[in-house]
Amino acid sequence: MIMLTEAQEFIRLYYIETGKEEREMVARLEEIEDEINRRGTYVHTSQELEFGAKVAWRNSNKCIGRLFWQSLTVFDKRDLCKEEDIFEALLDHIEYATNAGRIRPTITIFSSSDVRVWNHQLIRYAGYETQGGVIGDSDSLAFTKVCEGLGWKGEGTNFDVLPLVIQVNNHPPKVFNVPDSYILEVPFRHPEMDWFSDLQLKWYAVPMISSMKLEVGGITYGAAPFNGWYMGTEIGARNLADDYRYNMLPAIAEQMGLNTKSNASLWKDRALVELNTAVLYSFKEDGVSIVDHHTAAHQFKKFEEIERDAGRDVTGNWAWLIPPMSPATTHIFQKPYNNEKVTPNYSYQPNPY
Ligand code: ARG
Repeated sequence: MIMLTEAQEFIRLYYIETGKEEREMVARLEEIEDEINRRGTYVHTSQELEFGAKVAWRNSNKCIGRLFWQSLTVFDKRDLCKEEDIFEALLDHIEYATNAGRIRPTITIFSSSDVRVWNHQLIRYAGYETQGGVIGDSDSLAFTKVCEGLGWKGEGTNFDVLPLVIQVNNHPPKVFNVPDSYILEVPFRHPEMDWFSDLQLKWYAVPMISSMKLEVGGITYGAAPFNGWYMGTEIGARNLADDYRYNMLPAIAEQMGLNTKSNASLWKDRALVELNTAVLYSFKEDGVSIVDHHTAAHQFKKFEEIERDAGRDVTGNWAWLIPPMSPATTHIFQKPYNNEKVTPNYSYQPNPY
């Protein structure tokens, strides 16, 4: 009966927040109860699903970008069950979301139980273990092996885009290459430091998370890839900076002529600032949406105010909300957040591989 309770709670929220008539709500609740009693489950209308996906973003405790939750574009692709068709829908998502750089927050929702996208993100770089250390993104080591086991072979560069791996029911997964024309990337250069481009660093434009599940009113959508745009520090203070990822701080500090022998020279901090400057500068110059962490924190403050005025409690995960650079310069650092999980929401699920 868990499903019925969760369905009722969600439907009430939907009707209250969208200002629909009480008697319509009562009728819909009866219909759903009936359906659950007969079949053990029920089917969301497209409007309920769209509302659920948006509120799931609003409830995402780790996300600093939630001010824009209502602007999410929702593609309802629950009718697709062929891998080829799902692949086409994923390409459509990439194209619509990328929008030649004017990134649009987007989610594509597939059939609740039968579809899985094995990738962590729709566009993500491969990682290879070699004698001389890792080439590419160490975060992708396991999944890259899976792709190779399915017959895919990358070029072996630091930035090979992984193929899409799509599974329907218990069929063996199918592998599809993303055509280059769909992949927008930004090569990094620095507004003052000319040598920066020689590092040959770049990143893809749109972070499209495809490994999380969406839970709405007791129904779980295991394949529901979604995206916003990047906050600069995700790339400049984590992906390219973490010593277990691309580990670029030593090379940058070297070029800057800093004393990397002394922690107290703050070479890591100074290299971080320039790397993040390059990320923001390059995205902006290429006309690709991105937000710096100061602006994002301001936007989050606005979100908190709007939610308070709407009579809703904001839940949040402090450790994730604070940016990984200069966190104490943001208001988020200075206050506690309640990390309770409210549904609808997105959450992790076990890898299918
Ligand atoms: N941190 C992840 C990455 O660097 C992306 C997570 C989602 N980020 C976002 N801005 N919506 O790839």
